[in-house]
Parts: sequence; C-alpha cells; structure tokens
Amino acid sequence: MRFPTLIVALACHAASSLAAPPPDRHVLHEKRDGEPHLWEKRRRASQNQVLPIRIGLRQRNLENAESYVYEVSDPTSPNFGKHWSAEQVANTFAPAPEAKNAVLKWLVNAGIDRKRISLSKGHNWVQFDGTVKEAEQLFATEYWHYQHLENGGHRLAVDAYSLPGNVQKHIDFVMPTVQLDGLKPVANTNHGRDALAIIPQGASLGSLPCGSLITIDCLRKLYKFPKGSSAVAGNEIGIAEWADYLYEPDLPIYFKNFTNPEIPTDTRPEFIAIDGGLRANLSTVAQGSGVEAALDVQAAYSIIHPQKVRYYQVGDGINVDSVGTFNIFLDALDESYCTYEGGDQPYVDPAYPDPNDNGNGYQGPLQCGGAPKSNVISVSYGQIEGALPYFYQVRQCHEWMKLGLQGVSVIYASGDSGVANRYNSGYPNSCLNADNLFVDNNGTRYSPSFPVNCPYITSVGATTLIGNDTDSGERAVSRPGTGPANAYYSGGGFSNIFPVPSYQASAVQNFMKHYAPKYGPNVYNDTGKARGFPDVAAIGLNVATVWNGSTYGVGGTSASAPIFAGIVTLLNEARIKIGKGPIGFLNPTLYKHPEAFNDITIGDNPGCGTGGFNATPGWDPVTGLGSPNYEKLLPIFLRLP
Ligand SMILES: *[C@@H]1O[C@H](CO)[C@@H](O)[C@H](O)[C@H]1NC(C)=O
Ligand SMILES: *[C@@H]1O[C@H](CO)[C@@H](O)[C@H](O)[C@H]1NC(C)=O
Ligand SMILES: *[C@@H]1O[C@H](CO)[C@@H](O)[C@H](O)[C@H]1NC(C)=O
Ligand SMILES: *[C@@H]1O[C@H](CO)[C@@H](O)[C@H](O)[C@H]1NC(C)=O
Ligand SMILES: *[C@@H]1O[C@H](CO)[C@@H](O)[C@H](O)[C@H]1NC(C)=O
Ligand SMILES: *[C@@H]1O[C@H](CO)[C@@H](O)[C@H](O)[C@H]1NC(C)=O
Repeated sequence: MRFPTLIVALACHAASSLAAPPPDRHVLHEKRDGEPHLWEKRRRASQNQVLPIRIGLRQRNLENAESYVYEVSDPTSPNFGKHWSAEQVANTFAPAPEAKNAVLKWLVNAGIDRKRISLSKGHNWVQFDGTVKEAEQLFATEYWHYQHLENGGHRLAVDAYSLPGNVQKHIDFVMPTVQLDGLKPVANTNHGRDALAIIPQGASLGSLPCGSLITIDCLRKLYKFPKGSSAVAGNEIGIAEWADYLYEPDLPIYFKNFTNPEIPTDTRPEFIAIDGGLRANLSTVAQGSGVEAALDVQAAYSIIHPQKVRYYQVGDGINVDSVGTFNIFLDALDESYCTYEGGDQPYVDPAYPDPNDNGNGYQGPLQCGGAPKSNVISVSYGQIEGALPYFYQVRQCHEWMKLGLQGVSVIYASGDSGVANRYNSGYPNSCLNADNLFVDNNGTRYSPSFPVNCPYITSVGATTLIGNDTDSGERAVSRPGTGPANAYYSGGGFSNIFPVPSYQASAVQNFMKHYAPKYGPNVYNDTGKARGFPDVAAIGLNVATVWNGSTYGVGGTSASAPIFAGIVTLLNEARIKIGKGPIGFLNPTLYKHPEAFNDITIGDNPGCGTGGFNATPGWDPVTGLGSPNYEKLLPIFLRLP
C-alpha cells in the first residue's frame, strides 16, 4: 500500500536565521512503502525512452464533499433528496484555473514546449509525451524496469517522486510513476465445490425448506416485502458484471421454476455493453463463467419485477480478466472522469484499445460517458485495499460520492473472506504485516476490501438461516474451509485508509466500547476512528439460481448485495409512486434507524490467524446494522421528503 507522503515543511529543523527554502524546491510527493510484491527491479530505463506523462490536477471543493452529500442525504437536512445534476457535479469539482496555470508555467519553465502539452476536456489532466530524461528531471526521480516474478512482464516505474513545493498543492498524482500492477476484481460468489450444492434433477423444489434453498417466498417471509405491482418508469435496478456473462437461456427456466408471481418467460434485462461487454453463449458458459451474473440478475428480478433490470456488462473478457478495476465502469457513467479526463492509471486499469491476446480484445475506444445511471446500482465484486495505490482509491471513492450526490444508491458485496481477503493470484494470503504490507502467507494484520472501505458505498455482508424455516432467524454466514480461497465468512473490518464517516461514528464507537476484541493495534485499526464495514447484511447462502440449465443453491455476499439492492428498489418504487424521488445515498438514513433492521448477534468472521469479529447487538463489522425489515423501512422512506 502506498500512502502519500507529504513533506511540506522541510525547513522546520533549519536554524531560524536561514531563509525559507525556495518555493520551487522539490518535495517528496509519493513513495512506495517497501518492496513491491512479486516485482523485481532490473535496470535503469534508457534516457530517451518516451513516456505518456499525465499529471492529475487536484479537484476543487473536495474538502466540502462530505457536507454536500449530507445536505442531500441526511434525513434531518432541509435539502434532503434535492440531488445534483451531472453538470453541477462536474462544475463544482473541476480543478481551479490556478492549478492548471501553475502546472503549465512550471513545465514550460522547465523546457517543455507549450505546444507539446495538452489538457483534458474537463481540464482535470495535463498530458504530454516526454522522455525518461525529462521526466526524471521534472519529478526528481529515476525510472527503472521492473519485472514480474511470475508472469515475466515488464513495467517502467519509480520508487518515489517529488514535485516543486509551489505546484505540489495543485497535483493529485503523476503517471506513470509508482504504479505497478492492479488486481482483477474478484466475484464474491462462494461457488467452490463444497458450497455449490446442485439440487437433484426432478426434486420437488417447492417442498425444500428455506434452510436448504432460499426462494423468493423465503425472502418475502424473512424481509416482509410485498410482491411487485406495476413498474414505474426510470426505476431500473442496475447490475454490473465484470468477467461473468449472463447466459440468457437460463432466465426463462428460472422465471418458470422460481418466481412468484411467475415472470413472463420472454422478460430480459436492458443490456448495456461497456468497452466491448459480451453477451454469453454456450461456449462462454462452458468456460465456467456466469454463476455470478445468473445469481445477481435472477435474485434482483425475483424481488423487483415488474420493475426492470438494467444490466451493465463491463469489458471484453480479456482485459478485465488480466487487470482492471471499477474505473472502466465509472468512466462509462461519467464522461468527466474518463481516462482523457482523469481516473484511470496505466497498469492498474485496463488499456484501450485492448492490447491483450494478440488484439483479440475490444479494439474500440474506452467508453466515456453515455451509459445511463440507475437509481440503485449493485456490484458483487471486490478488490483488496492493501493492493491499490492510496490516491487511486481516494479518487475513485470521490466518484462514488458524486453518484450519491446525483441520487444513486451504490451497493457492494462486502467480501467472502471475513477479516482476511479473497485469495488472489500473487497474494497467497492477503493478510498484511504490521506495516500494512503484504507478506507471503505470514500476514497477521486484517486486510480490508475495496471499494467497500469507501464511506460513500453501502456495503452488504452475508447471513444464513439458523434453522430450516424463516422464523428460526439469521446468523452471520459461516463456512470453515482451508485458506481464504475456500472458507466463507462475511467480509468486514476497518479501513486503513478512510476515516470513520460521521453517520457511522457512534455505531463504531459503541462496538469499540462494548464488543471489540482486544487484539491490539497491529491486527486492525482499533481506534474507533476508521471506516467500518459492512453497513448492512442479507441472506448469502443457498440462494436458488439457475445456471447453464441446472438449479444451484449459490452462496456469497454476491447474493446479499442484489437482495438488499432489490429491496431498496422496492422502497424507491413506493417513493416514486407518491411523487417523491429516489433515496440516493442510503447510509445516513440507515444508521439513524437501526430499529428497521433485524439485528444479527450470532456468528463471526475469522481470518488472519484470529477469530475475527463477533456479530453483536447493534452495528458490528460482520453483519453491519443487520438485515432489512421492509415493513419498518417503508414508513421511514415514505416520510422523508
Ligand atoms: C461465443 O462467445 C465466444 C467468446 O466471446 C466467441 O469467441 C464465440 O464466437 C461465440 N460463439 C457464438 C456461436 O456466438
Ligand atoms: C453447460 O452445459 C453444457 C450442455 O449441457 C455442457 O456441455 C457444459 O459442460 C456445461 N458447462 C459447464 C461449465 O458446466
Ligand atoms: C514466512 O514464514 C515461513 C515459514 O515460517 C518462512 O520460511 C518465510 O521466510 C516467511 N516469509 C516472510 C516473508 O516472512
Ligand atoms: C432441514 O431440512 C433438511 C431437509 O429436509 C434436513 O436434512 C435438515 O436436517 C433440517 N435441518 C434442521 C436444522 O432442521
Ligand atoms: C486509524 O484510522 C484513523 C482514521 O483513518 C487514522 O487517523 C489513524 O491514524 C489510524 N490508526 C492507526 C494506528 O493506523
Ligand atoms: C424446473 O421445474 C421442473 C418441474 O418441477 C423440473 O422438472 C426441472 O428440473 C426444473 N428445472 C430446473 C433447472 O430446476
């Protein structure tokens, strides 16, 4: 993990008789902590190699972001629900003209011809092609070739870089510099052999108890929500998928066997292809992908129909499989965030046109803007906080914040590996050492997930029924297994990056005071000052799903997220029907109403050689506030302006 190292006051130890350092003296801006995992430094880059240099300008008004968001999403605010337009968002956060001017002046004074420099459309990025020699002088650094120890790939990167003191305050980060690789997003479906219990062909599915197979009838009994009545326009639920493809022939089978009332068999989601996103056919199904997409779409439909599903298929399947994160999705939703406008990082986000697989990937441009926003967006993928650059996560978190300002509820699965993290190539055990660094299999510090660490996201953990019927109640999901790849526990914990948001502060403090395990500060941030997750929970085991023509009981916080998102879509439907708007960013409302949740107090989420956290009375970092009770949430949502 890279934290920004901002050394602003270099002069503080100097004798007072010395003048302050010249304002254009370089100060350290960003530095990689420790050796990069699985990358080895080989040799200096040649001085005349050309780099595509991009300088991200600091956005304006971010210090006010939290208050802007509360203004429209805190139930006690007079402007609750008065969401912003995309233009208002873009104008408010666009970098100040001084930022652009100061950076241009610095570059031109340093000998970069103004004609070589261009600005992105939103003036968020200053870009030019420069040689390694020029970049080394500008950023007071050295470029080296790094080689990946497993796949042999090479990257040009630096260990640290500096900026002149008088421009540093205008700059978020420079690329390419300290960035090495990213991790592909991992689907939070627990579909390991032990968890994927295929239902015997011909079994009388309706007669299975809810403890064996969760159907829509079980969910309705458990969470007390009604059958859908009539669709309201513009209330589609958004479901986003990465390298999992929706095999549409499964839908009519699911609708026929598992929906109540039965959804017409020709019902299909609105299909939004992002960056070459594919529709699946039998050969893509045979490759084993798609359980995630089947689960997400089917669970959502069963709850919200006749509301509609908007399905975002991200990526061409080659790019997103190798690297890539959520930025390509955000690019498609927000033109002002897109690569040429800012946001993506080489080596972390996929490149377009897709250079992989001998050009068989998507050859079109990166999609910038144009994908419609939805009132609720549910995503069941996650990454590892400790594996991504700090600035990168903060910048992306601000994008989720901007969606909240515009009235979108962003809902993510909290992860399936308890306090550890998902097994991932190159990270045999994603627990950290005491310095928040990855260590091979030996980590003992908890490893939070991204982007659920971002306080502008509503994160959903997983529960399961205690017994066979819905009256038996719920507990935190628990599937012991060998290693983080097989064990399945509700993802939860505390961010090492993001502080606790004010809406969550008293909930976290209550947990710290009464229930926090005393493992010491080397295991997790136990100060009560860090963002905790998940926010809420829902059933995440044995959820009826038809995939490739057969029925499975699928588990994962992957199931919990679309179930919770479906219930929020029903709440929005009820609001829209009485002439109100969608709720948007949910958390300030949810944390004010813990009584509208079924508090989960049984279970835990062990990992990293510890017992993890316990599900406890009140909010806890296993099941959040608990699972939703629609009957109690409805009057709260309807009363809000
Ligand atoms: C099915 O999808 C794969 C992967 O995208 C593609 O290569 C193949 O041509 C497709 N087959 C058909 C019959 O469309
Ligand atoms: C999907 O079903 C087809 C046809 O029944 C079968 O050939 C294929 O192996 C199945 N794919 C997987 C991954 O199970
Ligand atoms: C991890 O532990 C193993 C076995 O105890 C040891 O051999 C190895 O050196 C350790 N690795 C690191 C990076 O500390
Ligand atoms: C739930 O039902 C299944 C199948 O009917 C049965 O095998 C199991 O023992 C039951 N479990 C409990 C906790 O009652
Ligand atoms: C815990 O998190 C808070 C908020 O991000 C931070 O200020 C503090 O330094 C962290 N403490 C430790 C010991 O990491
Ligand atoms: C759907 O229901 C029919 C009738 O009960 C059953 O024969 C069939 O196996 C079921 N299909 C799936 C995929 O569950």
